[in-house]
Amino acid sequence: PAWLPGESSRHLGGRRVYIDAHGPLVDTVRSEFTRAMAAHGGRFVDVITDAEIVVILVTEPMAPNPAHADVAAVREAAAAAEASPLTPEGYILARRDSVTAIVAATDHGALYGVLDLMRNGEPAPGVRREQPAHPIRMLDHWDNMTVHPVMGAVERGYAGDSIFFTDGEVRRDLDRVARYARLLAAVGINRVAINNVNVHRTEALLLTDKLPDVARVADVFRSWGIRLHLSVNFASPVLLGGLESADPLLPEVAEWWREATDRVYDAIPDFGGYVVKADSEGQPGPFSYGRSHAEGANPLAAALAPHDGIVHWRAFVYNHHQDWRDRSTDRAKAAFGHFVPLDGQFADNVVLQVKHGPIDFQTREPVSPVIGALTHTNVAVELQVTQEYTGQQKHVCYLGPAWSEILRFRFAGETDGARPVADLATGGFVAVSNVGTDHFLTGHPLAQANLYAFGRLSWEPLADPLRILDEWIGATFPDADDHARAVIHSILDSSWATYEKYTAPLGVGFMVSSRDHYGPDVDGYEYSRWGTYHFADRDGVGVDRTQATGTGFAGQYPSPWRERYESLAECPDDLLLFFHHVPYDHVLKSGSTVIQHIYDTHTEGVQDVLRSQAAWAGLSNRIDSATHERVTTLLVEQVRSAGDWRDQIQTYFFRKSGVADATGRPHY
Ligand code: GCU
Repeated sequence: PAWLPGESSRHLGGRRVYIDAHGPLVDTVRSEFTRAMAAHGGRFVDVITDAEIVVILVTEPMAPNPAHADVAAVREAAAAAEASPLTPEGYILARRDSVTAIVAATDHGALYGVLDLMRNGEPAPGVRREQPAHPIRMLDHWDNMTVHPVMGAVERGYAGDSIFFTDGEVRRDLDRVARYARLLAAVGINRVAINNVNVHRTEALLLTDKLPDVARVADVFRSWGIRLHLSVNFASPVLLGGLESADPLLPEVAEWWREATDRVYDAIPDFGGYVVKADSEGQPGPFSYGRSHAEGANPLAAALAPHDGIVHWRAFVYNHHQDWRDRSTDRAKAAFGHFVPLDGQFADNVVLQVKHGPIDFQTREPVSPVIGALTHTNVAVELQVTQEYTGQQKHVCYLGPAWSEILRFRFAGETDGARPVADLATGGFVAVSNVGTDHFLTGHPLAQANLYAFGRLSWEPLADPLRILDEWIGATFPDADDHARAVIHSILDSSWATYEKYTAPLGVGFMVSSRDHYGPDVDGYEYSRWGTYHFADRDGVGVDRTQATGTGFAGQYPSPWRERYESLAECPDDLLLFFHHVPYDHVLKSGSTVIQHIYDTHTEGVQDVLRSQAAWAGLSNRIDSATHERVTTLLVEQVRSAGDWRDQIQTYFFRKSGVADATGRPHY
């Protein structure tokens, strides 16, 4: 039940409820109340003045309504809605005396208001307005229909099998999907893509032969206000349509997409659109036909446009056959080179989906300069809730603070009026989901906090991630006492910083096993084709991405970041090795040398995890035993793995540099 445990229905179930609203999602609202009332004895009433919870739709401008006149909470909420109109998914919660009013302009807003009550309980007296910053808040699932020989059922999935598919088919029983949809709605997610961006042969069929089954999944999501999207293969006209070419400029190709798309909408009238990974890591794309990515995306967009559908076109395009000997190619620069020259050429219903960093969801990366450079293209910021590089849901790593830094980043620096990334995301927010058939949904029970935080940040991108953490703790552990809540908070709040301490240092990235991206392998990628190198030698470490002597990536940023990243003196410590190759005795702003920093932080990181482990042990009788046991088991693994990271990284750099550790710690 994650953040909607049985107790959450208490907030709805014991009350007298009046509903004056209409629309398909009001049925969902009613059934939530009905279910809660069965457990807690409340009932629906016919007169507003008898009610303790009032759910009501208002339309602007509001006619004076005598039915509301006597109920202060309703009057105040309605007045607030009138003073400043609500967006379609927004709502106002007002509480006066014993009455709570939820006022919305649509059934979607009303549903969100009710789910807010379930998560947070009764609001404080007064009026609170909630509305999402962006209309697109989406999760991508990297689920395969069959178990892929290397990637498994869910690519980069750490929580069991796919909740949607099994044995090459859509699951018959979608109960779990329904429970998941309810959880997502409760944090404001309104779109999901259900299949992997790497669209293999079987999955390609979701667009055609398997449509009736996709429609069943869409039905489940629809009752929670969530639109379903599909990842599609760019070569579908060839793979599925039998055409000889998928050249996007051929009329028969555009026609194929139009007809296929019309058929999708016959089956799923509110279908959201397509996600496309093209010319990326072996997926087909427009480059095969000498076409640009705008030329590739626009025919799909044209097919979707009459139906209000969107193309999410991914910007994750780079040469994945790089020669490690070639020092002039820099993977970090690739997306900018491909997409910024196309700014303004994408159709209005194309959203360019850009990973938050220029490389690949590392623990620490600078914000992708592509996000700041596109001014005539809809841009979605892509985050990764699944912990591919951040501990794979075996390690505690609360990513809210990491995402918050990204969303608050200002390309123009700290000047007045500089817009944060949160505002530049004109195409909303997308993240790769972290769920599966696991009992706890996310493998690590505490990884639920990441899913929750993504939803809440996509709704309110500048919200404080630690406030969101407390909200999640309160909703998920309603019976925990203050001490237990404080302990859970302390284990999670700085867990990203802790993870960073014991893994790749100072923004250099990777150093993971190239097999599965779990655990240390400092040179795992050093002589590979993937373009992710650290260049450690006996004198120093890091990637020179300056304009003066390096790859020039720093020059993709506007001022002041271009100069800051370029300058050894000004570059922030935590990104130093992303932008510079420095000697081991280079002195950081912290006063420590690079080599001593590597030694110290790796020891500290493991100590932090040991402290978390001890703190968690103290909760054994304070939270439910299944959760306690699972986290206890995983903390043993985190301690082991963090120790492995510490020892391998410290030893590697000790051997490379020959520099003694000032603390006299032993290295191997
Ligand atoms: C990473 C990840 C892949 C994934 C890719 C993507 O490289 O390891 O599994 O397919 O990102 O985002 O497309």
